[in-house]
Amino acid sequence: MKEDTKLLLDWYDAERRILPWREDPTPYHVWVSEIMLQQTRVEAVKDYYARFLATLPDVASLAAADEDTYLKIWEGLGYYSRVRNMHKAAVTIMDEYGGEIPSTAKELQKLSGIGEYTAAAIASIAFQQPVSSVDGNLLRVYARRNLYRENIKDPAAKKVAYDYYMERMPEDRPGDYNQALMDLGATVCLPNGEPECFRCPWADLCEAHKQGVELEVPVVPAKKARRIEHRNVYRVHCGDVLLLSKRPDTGLLAGLYEFPNDLLVPEKKAAETSEKSSGNSSEKSSGKLTKKQVAELSQNALDRFLSDNDLTPVSVFPLPAAKHIFSHVEWHMTGYDIEVESLEQLPSEAAGSSDADRADLFACHLSEVDRYSIPNAFDAFKF
Ligand code: ADE
Repeated sequence: MKEDTKLLLDWYDAERRILPWREDPTPYHVWVSEIMLQQTRVEAVKDYYARFLATLPDVASLAAADEDTYLKIWEGLGYYSRVRNMHKAAVTIMDEYGGEIPSTAKELQKLSGIGEYTAAAIASIAFQQPVSSVDGNLLRVYARRNLYRENIKDPAAKKVAYDYYMERMPEDRPGDYNQALMDLGATVCLPNGEPECFRCPWADLCEAHKQGVELEVPVVPAKKARRIEHRNVYRVHCGDVLLLSKRPDTGLLAGLYEFPNDLLVPEKKAAETSEKSSGNSSEKSSGKLTKKQVAELSQNALDRFLSDNDLTPVSVFPLPAAKHIFSHVEWHMTGYDIEVESLEQLPSEAAGSSDADRADLFACHLSEVDRYSIPNAFDAFKF
């Protein structure tokens, strides 16, 4: 074993984080944890991981689960396509792999939602396959250790880092080696601000540290600004009944439930958007509107919403404005609390699914709301 690999593994044995999925790393546990850990912090994942396994303890139960069950468990974790893909993969594992999760990175990558990194993580941690799982942590550690000054987001960076780590991969502990690097990146070789080199097993070997330039690497290209969408959100109720709708089966927050809402688009933009007929995602501008524009568009959209849906308001109150940030878009929301005379004209159950905008409004008794997965974006408007 190379000396630096030994230094790293000794450090891991003494300092590793105690995490639930590490205590019993079955292939299913590792798979669930790795999918949850994509885009999500370890601390945020712990409770979800426990809840997920309590309801869906194995591949068979996940494959048999219905959409509302797994979406409900995932509620609040974000990036919901992750759990849809897991469900799809579980069905494939039952149908085509006899219920056994495949053990090689190559085979794992054939499953929905499992890319190069996740396949390597599962293969190494659950099956002791010697493959490096190069994620942002490993790239940062690599860049500092070797004073790599090229763009770290370029595929070439991943390739050199992969080769570097593979040369040092210990045959008997590939999963620990990968996880040691993940822990080093997450707890010592920190992404934002000063790394804690005094705790690093590789401090004496690290080129960036030797030269005192830890903060100059990794080199990351400037992020593109997020698009801004202004929206009206309607909290419509009548007695103990609330108006909800189901989102379309594709796109952002696919298949989840929500308070009905409208995108606010100035007329000129609306015309451009409908010409492109592909929604608003291809707009070039940031989408930000002035306060005055928002106020006007919001009032118009509110009036249209009420008349289009035959709703007779008893009272309408503005709710505090709210913002939700997704990876590529920000929602700036204007909320209305609307008490109406009646919701009896609407169905009391969600229809299966629909692509049509709001063809699927339904009236939900407050005692039933918990059955439906409503994403965090609407937290500010929940009762
Ligand atoms: N991030 C992704 N996978 C991880 C793991 N297995 N341990 C710690 N952090 C991780």
